[in-house]
Amino acid sequence: MPKKKLNMGLIGYGFMGRAHSNAYNKVNKFFDLEYEPVLKAVCARKEAILKPFAERWGWESTETDWRRLIERDDIDCIDIGSPNNTHRDIAVAAAEAGKMVLCEKPLAMNAAEGLEMTEAIEKAGVANMVWFNYRRVPAIALAKQLVDEGRIGRVFHYRAKYLQDWTISADVPQGGETLWRLDADVAGSGVTGDLLAHSIDTAIWLAGGIDKVSAMTETFIKERPTQDDPSVTREVKIDDACAFLARFNNGALATFESTRYARGRKNQNTFEINGEKGSLFFDLEDAHQLQYFNHDDDEHVHGWRTILVTDSEHPYMDHWWVPGCVIGYEHTFINALADFLQGLETGTPVRPNFRDALGTQRVCDAVLKSARTEAWEKV
Ligand SMILES: NC(=O)c1ccc[n+]([C@@H]2O[C@H](COP(=O)([O-])OP(=O)(O)OC[C@H]3O[C@@H](n4cnc5c(N)ncnc54)[C@H](O)[C@@H]3O)[C@@H](O)[C@H]2O)c1
Repeated sequence: MPKKKLNMGLIGYGFMGRAHSNAYNKVNKFFDLEYEPVLKAVCARKEAILKPFAERWGWESTETDWRRLIERDDIDCIDIGSPNNTHRDIAVAAAEAGKMVLCEKPLAMNAAEGLEMTEAIEKAGVANMVWFNYRRVPAIALAKQLVDEGRIGRVFHYRAKYLQDWTISADVPQGGETLWRLDADVAGSGVTGDLLAHSIDTAIWLAGGIDKVSAMTETFIKERPTQDDPSVTREVKIDDACAFLARFNNGALATFESTRYARGRKNQNTFEINGEKGSLFFDLEDAHQLQYFNHDDDEHVHGWRTILVTDSEHPYMDHWWVPGCVIGYEHTFINALADFLQGLETGTPVRPNFRDALGTQRVCDAVLKSARTEAWEKV
């Protein structure tokens, strides 16, 4: 049967531009789907970089102004892979034009923007998804399955860490084309929005909503040169590190920690959940494994087991290789896209949607507020 074409318009040719372009190229090779994304147009500001990018990844055309992309009648779905300060305006305009909208995380600069976007999306009634791709790591999806099957029982503790080390040097500039993550005017926040948003999305998915938080943040290097003009130094306004305590609505306790100053940690994203009947542990740097402790095992074999999440019984893995052959980072975006397209097919919309991501954004806002007030803050 001929596929239903879904004409995509992607914004951004950076890190996520590549990850998403790869997903559009691969998804129908590995998943049997009614829909097929067509790489109609890619948009970014610098034509000299954009043209070769489009050619390399198979985009049919280019635009240098996202407004023009949204105006085009031949685009069904806008995919936002540009920095955080662009998300609101693009998403709202795309929704008002009746386009489906996919958006990178964090949803917005803050929850007020996130609410505006969510309301625009819901008013327009357009299909939408936010790319919290870690939900599509098979081992994390398996953790979700085990929680839903009741295998760890009532959750008491959730412990998350997200650690990197790339901003330790005071010479790293802020702002500009590639270092916008260090500029609060573009990123909204530092590790809270960039890294902990992932941890919070995963935590809410696995353990439920968060009621209140108590946080501390630090900016270790107070001033940095700007990337566009290294002779100009500006105050750094992002959080370099953040640690917070949280209470879930269900009474479970949580700790979250993130920094870009953890020497040797490149992208260590871990969580441990301790429940009445068992525990789970995951580390993105060993992404094909899930550790599971089952208290119901006979006592003489009690111990943590390491599940190699590559069997066809495991989430997503029946679309990939034979048992024992691991998949990687890029596959999480392909899995996410497949879920989005399947949602269009079945009429059961994919999650996380804008409303879900707004929930995560509200936790981020409460965390940043608590760091300022030095008090517990309700989400
Ligand atoms: N899901 C994930 O794991 C993940 C990973 C990395 C980044 N992200 C998110 O993806 C987004 C992009 O991050 P990145 O790492 O790809 O950034 P990047 O700096 O690598 O790329 C950003 C792209 O946006 C373009 N751009 C900037 N302003 C624009 C504008 N006004 N109009 C059109 N294009 C514009 C730039 O030219 C560039 O192509 C951010 O929101 C980030 O938080 C998510």
